[in-house]
Amino acid sequence: MNILITGGAGFIGSHVVRRFVTRYKEYHIFNLDALTYAGNLENLKDVEKAPNYTFLKGNILDENFIKSIFAKYNFDGVIHLAAESHVDRSITDPLAFVKTNVIGTVNLLNVSLDTWKGNLEHKRFYHISTDEVYGALGAEGFFTEVTPYDPNSPYSASKASSDHFIRAYGETYQFPYVITNCSNNYGPNHFPEKLIPLFINNIINNKPLPVYGDGNYTRDWLFVEDHAIAIDLVFHKGKNHETYNIGGFNEWKNIDLVKLLCRLMDKKLNRKEGSSEKLITYVKDRPGHDLRYAIDATKINKELGWEPSVTFEEGLDKTIDWYLNNKEWLNNVTSGEYQKYYESQYN
Ligand SMILES: NC(=O)c1ccc[n+]([C@@H]2O[C@H](COP(=O)([O-])OP(=O)(O)OC[C@H]3O[C@@H](n4cnc5c(N)ncnc54)[C@H](O)[C@@H]3O)[C@@H](O)[C@H]2O)c1
Repeated sequence: MNILITGGAGFIGSHVVRRFVTRYKEYHIFNLDALTYAGNLENLKDVEKAPNYTFLKGNILDENFIKSIFAKYNFDGVIHLAAESHVDRSITDPLAFVKTNVIGTVNLLNVSLDTWKGNLEHKRFYHISTDEVYGALGAEGFFTEVTPYDPNSPYSASKASSDHFIRAYGETYQFPYVITNCSNNYGPNHFPEKLIPLFINNIINNKPLPVYGDGNYTRDWLFVEDHAIAIDLVFHKGKNHETYNIGGFNEWKNIDLVKLLCRLMDKKLNRKEGSSEKLITYVKDRPGHDLRYAIDATKINKELGWEPSVTFEEGLDKTIDWYLNNKEWLNNVTSGEYQKYYESQYN
């Protein structure tokens, strides 16, 4: 099989590429990525020379380029992760999210449909989406696969829109798709604009830890390698025209999570207990901030036998160690543009 993975140089994509390249030597994995600020080929140094791996630098908005690679490599399947992925950035530049997440996805759909016409039953288009499309929960309840879409941020609206287009192509053209909606991921290679790596980086550097609002926002956290395992399973065993929710069965209020990170980091860095907690600073809330997300992952558990393989403690431990052992990666991605972004966001 020739498999196209989009966004493979990003956080989750790099773990998916690594898993497929190392586990399925009989497949050829093509990683298509535009290398935006979030894409980083350093994430894939260990597999870049593998004979079953090819990197293709390109933009999913570039129709001619997408057509040319489909014509050349005759892909059997697509795993689509390329996206603008940060909610805060979507608030300052919504159009960038419409372009990549909506138009880019429709572009890929059109080229896949055109190239695969007459042979659709042997193909698969797998779209990676988020639980944020379902909007916000109150203190109780969970998102299931039939929860109505109710997105609140430009990011989640753009992901919801791309999900709708995929379903519509399934209905209209019998397009062979599968969608998963996953909760918050954490783990190695996560760009430090997102909560866990941002706080690890700030604790290392003794910088303030900016907590939005009262810190009571609640998220369900999943270790990124467990997401990659779920993606592998759904790609191979998921049913066409189905959606699966993926979650960690692991809800945390932001403030409790930050305090846990502070305690773990104090130990790792041999600092006095309580010293990192002193860095916590409450900052002005994000507009339209969803109070709580929680996933009911019963369907993927029952139908495909998936469940998280590591506990939160194990996952966080591995994550912190990775950042402490990869300071050069952290320094490279936090120099230059990142500084400007950070100042405009939090100062
Ligand atoms: N991070 C999470 O917690 C999470 C949770 C659920 C779902 N998701 C979804 O998973 C996918 C990957 O998320 P992530 O956190 O790894 O994102 P990321 O921002 O780390 O990576 C996105 C990648 O896409 C590439 N990209 C962006 N625009 C592109 C374009 N126009 N053409 C080609 N490549 C482009 C970037 O260079 C980058 O490598 C996204 O679709 C996201 O919506 C993420």
